[in-house]
Amino acid sequence: MSMHAEFDYVVVGNPVAHSISPQIHTRFAELTGERLRYGRLKLEESEFARGMADFFAAGGLGANVTVPFKVAAAAWVDELDQAATFAGAVNTIVIRPDGGYLGCNTDGLGLLADLHRQLNCSLAGSRILVLGAGGAVRGVLGPLADETPAEITIANRTLGKARSLAADLCAERPGQDVRAVLPAETGGGYDVVINGTSAGLSGAVAAIPAEAVAEAFCYDMVYGPRTAFCDWSLRHRARMAVDGLGMLVEQAAAAFELWRGVRPDAGVVLAELLSARADSR
Ligand code: ATR
Repeated sequence: MSMHAEFDYVVVGNPVAHSISPQIHTRFAELTGERLRYGRLKLEESEFARGMADFFAAGGLGANVTVPFKVAAAAWVDELDQAATFAGAVNTIVIRPDGGYLGCNTDGLGLLADLHRQLNCSLAGSRILVLGAGGAVRGVLGPLADETPAEITIANRTLGKARSLAADLCAERPGQDVRAVLPAETGGGYDVVINGTSAGLSGAVAAIPAEAVAEAFCYDMVYGPRTAFCDWSLRHRARMAVDGLGMLVEQAAAAFELWRGVRPDAGVVLAELLSARADSR
């Protein structure tokens, strides 16, 4: 084991080669005047615990966790914050003052920060449709409910998973109106539609009716120029469709603040990434 980690912070996942977290955190460090080295750590599924232990033993200061390790990370840490507890998943590992490991989940905060930026208003009283009922959705439901929307509808092709997520949310936020439906049965009239399925990774979109997105603000938690969901929504009269790049930058900013105690300006970095995206077209 080397005495010095090559990096102070890493994003751990598999695959991680395409992660832009190093770019985002390096830019945050420049903007805040913090000195840190942020890299990628690719581990095999069976070696997560060992890989994390080695990284921190060598002097690592913190980690972001991505697919497929978010649930494993929740089991590995010593303590979970409230968001990670509900999510059952960790995207940020912080070293406590006593040396123990705190598992946090900044995905929901990241989504909300970007939604607030894009919508320029809170979600209080709105009707929200969430597509999918996997880990990505579980990670953001608690913070979404904290906005006190009038209603949250969870649509998933495996209805049982949507139902159990809805039941968990009701138990956690007793006043919240939550429904679970099949994608074909969403109906319309939503203010906000959030795609949390992984369907887009194969170019697909959950089989919802066009009325679900008509006049709605549509948000894809996946990032990329012209995602399948954004494309489909705009073709079906969405008011606006935004991909998850802002959520990625905002969850990173929240992680950076947990580690360094200083909040970087996510808006500046998002603007830079969007402008680089526009240049590459
Ligand atoms: P993640 O961690 O990204 O949430 P996950 O836990 O595997 O990954 O969840 C993936 C979600 O995308 C699930 O809600 C899944 O639906 P099922 O629960 O019915 O499997 C949804 N999903 C994946 N591919 C899909 C597709 N082609 N159409 C609709 N939903 C899809």
